[in-house]
Amino acid sequence: MTEEAEVFVEKLVAGGYALAQLPDGMKILLKGGYPEEFVRVRLTRRKSDLAFGEVTQVISPSPFRVKPVCRHFGDCGGCQWQDYTYEEQLRWKQRIVEEQLQRIGGITVDVGETVPSPKKFHYRNIAELTFSGKNLGFRRWRGHSVIDIHECYLAPRRFTEIAREIKSIVELLEIPFYNWKSGSGVLKHVVMRASSTTGELMAIVVTKTETLPKAKMLRNMLLKKYPDIYLVHVMNSRDAVVLRGPYRILNGEGVLTENMDWFTFQIPPTAFFQVNTEVAQLLAFHVFEEVAPSRNDRVLDLYSGVGLFAINVAPHVKRCVGVESSRVAVKAAKANANINRLRNVEFVNASVEELNLNEGEFNKVILDPPRQGLEKRVVELLFTLNPERIVYVSCDTASLARDLKRLVRGGYSVVRVKPFDMFPHTHHVESVATLVKK
Ligand SMILES: C[S@@+](CC[C@H](N)C(=O)[O-])C[C@H]1O[C@@H](n2cnc3c(N)ncnc32)[C@H](O)[C@@H]1O
Repeated sequence: MTEEAEVFVEKLVAGGYALAQLPDGMKILLKGGYPEEFVRVRLTRRKSDLAFGEVTQVISPSPFRVKPVCRHFGDCGGCQWQDYTYEEQLRWKQRIVEEQLQRIGGITVDVGETVPSPKKFHYRNIAELTFSGKNLGFRRWRGHSVIDIHECYLAPRRFTEIAREIKSIVELLEIPFYNWKSGSGVLKHVVMRASSTTGELMAIVVTKTETLPKAKMLRNMLLKKYPDIYLVHVMNSRDAVVLRGPYRILNGEGVLTENMDWFTFQIPPTAFFQVNTEVAQLLAFHVFEEVAPSRNDRVLDLYSGVGLFAINVAPHVKRCVGVESSRVAVKAAKANANINRLRNVEFVNASVEELNLNEGEFNKVILDPPRQGLEKRVVELLFTLNPERIVYVSCDTASLARDLKRLVRGGYSVVRVKPFDMFPHTHHVESVATLVKK
């Protein structure tokens, strides 16, 4: 028999959950539900000290509930908070960052107000859609099945329109979808990318196989409707990361160009770029301010991507070195240094963990690791280097809190943390922590 209960929602917590307490005192993490609501829930899992559940009925709704705009909301894993006012989303992101730093990192710091996204909807410059069964779309929240997507309010309107056109063409051409269980088939993903500042559009077809059958026919049919689109084929035999592997340009430039403030960035199909260009601009400026560059500084930018932070800082310092493991991103970063006429910035293609650094080689460090944060070896490297200032950009508050704890133990103080709303209507938050040597 399914277990049901009526509970009072206490607060929003990390991971997109709302927290409540069951009548027997056990804490429950809920999908759906907002602070100060009285809700009916269905339990989906009980562990020894924590339960999980879903809201089945809102008995007394929060005054901050709003009508969701997207027809897929609730089913699709893309948004969690689309039915909550934007102001409350910002407030809770700030609180969650504050609480995570305290709980995981033991760090008490005044977290600044969340910097809002200039665009509330259609802010993403990238969307990764997956082929599965008969569908092309996004995965359910914490699930594997894929929903056939007809609209998305996080991405530009044209993304879903073009992805659906690609779906119709590949169905017509009978190019088989990849089967995630058996490992047979061809088409894994369509990744849509765009430049928010130049309007360039790129469609990337990701296949399991080395070749994309009927690629020419697919290109010609797509170009009839979207003559300016860049089309790229990525061969990715591994399943964990979507945009990995060698690629072939089937149409157009093969790189997107973003013009941000004084700088231009070229972004190749498989390189990382911050997903919300307008927030990325604000983020880059904040990182610049927190580095507090001066003429004799030697700045190390770890996990440098196509050079966003290094290039913003370089004109104001003596030397800047970016380190990045993706060969494609490093090539683009070098090109970006040239495009922006910078002579004092270098990019090294290496894993950060492999570096050897001497004390004092760089006096300031920027960090922007992937979700999992810093490997222990990297924290040790930082202690050897002993920089006076570290600016840590993070898209995962839990790993940020863990790493800040280690850095504080090693003699740093956290002077400021600022959240940025890179991902409106989702529970995700980008944060920048500034540390100085005690
Ligand atoms: C969150 S992105 C940040 C990129 C860049 N700072 C930006 O803002 O555009 C993380 C980057 O780290 C790179 N990366 C992941 N693991 C790495 C490692 N072990 N060593 C060096 N770079 C790594 C990824 O390829 C990606 O470009």
